[in-house]
Amino acid sequence: MLRSRGRIPSTADGIPRAPGGLPFVGHGARLLRDPLGFLSSLPGHGDLVRVRIGPSRVIVVCDPGLARKVLLNDRAFDKGGPLVSRAREVAGNGLLTCPHHEHRRQRRLIQPAFHRDRMPGYAHAMSARVADTIAGWRKGEVIDVPAAMYTLAATITVEAMFSSDLPPAAIGTAIDDLTTIVRGMLPRMLRPALADHLPTPGNRGYRRAGARLRRQLNDIIASRRADGTDHGDMLSAVLAACDPDGAGGRLSDAEVSDQVLTIFGAGTETTAATMAWALHLLARHPEVERQVHEEVDAALAGAPAAPGHLPLLPVTGNVVTEALRLYPPIWIATRTLTSGTRFGGHDFPPGTVFAYSPYLLHHRADLYTDPERFDPARWDGDRPRPPRDAYLPFGAGARKCIGDQFGIMEATLALATIAGRWRLRSLPGPAIRPATGITLSPRRLRMRVTARTSGTPA
Ligand code: HEM
Repeated sequence: MLRSRGRIPSTADGIPRAPGGLPFVGHGARLLRDPLGFLSSLPGHGDLVRVRIGPSRVIVVCDPGLARKVLLNDRAFDKGGPLVSRAREVAGNGLLTCPHHEHRRQRRLIQPAFHRDRMPGYAHAMSARVADTIAGWRKGEVIDVPAAMYTLAATITVEAMFSSDLPPAAIGTAIDDLTTIVRGMLPRMLRPALADHLPTPGNRGYRRAGARLRRQLNDIIASRRADGTDHGDMLSAVLAACDPDGAGGRLSDAEVSDQVLTIFGAGTETTAATMAWALHLLARHPEVERQVHEEVDAALAGAPAAPGHLPLLPVTGNVVTEALRLYPPIWIATRTLTSGTRFGGHDFPPGTVFAYSPYLLHHRADLYTDPERFDPARWDGDRPRPPRDAYLPFGAGARKCIGDQFGIMEATLALATIAGRWRLRSLPGPAIRPATGITLSPRRLRMRVTARTSGTPA
């Protein structure tokens, strides 16, 4: 563990304060200006560092062992805090935001939708939609990569949820509505609830999307409950699931709607960002790109990648793992203490807010050799692995991402299929920087599509 050193201001309880806090705003200005640089500077001050954002105080957990302790003790370190409370009002009480006492039941009811046996069905949607996407690209075309990956991921998530129940036009409407709602959530979470009722175009569009989506979902749920057969998709699994304890019963229709929004919100931007970063990193590292091309040419021979190919794609898999290390889409998340707790040698009162940051941990020079370098080979089986606690792109413990295997499979299949057919080239211009929204995605990443023929870059 790193010890605090130098003249770091500490508080009465001995926890160092991050330097540079200003009156009223605290570290808010630095966090807005350069959140990733600010976070990366914190381990130099201690294992736990106090940060102030306006009136709120947050303890940032910089040590990987302590971060894991926070994540494993989900009863004491619960989802909470002002942002999460607003998220519940805005997005409903789904798996991602629900409090500990509701989580076990919800997780048991949703888990069957992510069972290993259902993955081949989802993989079919992944392979088909990736093939459609790249078939539409033209040689020399410049594409907005985050937008293209978002549409791809959104279509896959909606298809995995509802299989063939929705005709293509309805899939498009559902994606539009889900996107309007999910993208409208962050601004809503950051402003007072009263502002939701103002008659602005944004509020009207948000309400319209919500009402249309609920109607569409209610119709699908009603017809599914009536026909009772398993369509092999997430919705069937969620509707069929019964709480084994019997106490919680099934999910109500309103709860199913909340979970649909949650799964779409949690699974789409994250996977899209991973794919976009992986494409960007490949283009910037021709030697790794060459290895991926060799690998996919040998494994796929021109076909779209399917789950059976995954064991033949270790380099492609390592590219995804390393992209998730360098640019973890969920770069920071918070927990709130539910009771007075002694932790990391300090006593904390209930209500204390803690933050863990996969980005901070993944960029620590004492945990990763040359941490800023894109080096997929660091994940090779024959190299010493970084410590387990130091790699947390999906979190850990009871609240660990339920869609981790889904997301990894989708990103790996997409990357392999794209690399089998096309070579995406960076455009000249300023370096691509991460946009720090709810997810970390490559800001304004546009790339040119160039053809490959039988493994040789055109
Ligand atoms: C590469 C892509 C993904 C990344 C990096 C990612 C990351 C994460 C992280 C870090 C958490 C935990 C947040 C916390 O500790 O507060 C989480 C939770 C969650 N993720 Fe993902 N995720 C990804 C893909 C997906 C997919 C594809 C789905 C669904 C289709 C999904 C659904 C969820 C849900 C429902 C939760 C809440 C789990 C719970 O609290 O029980 N995620 N994700």
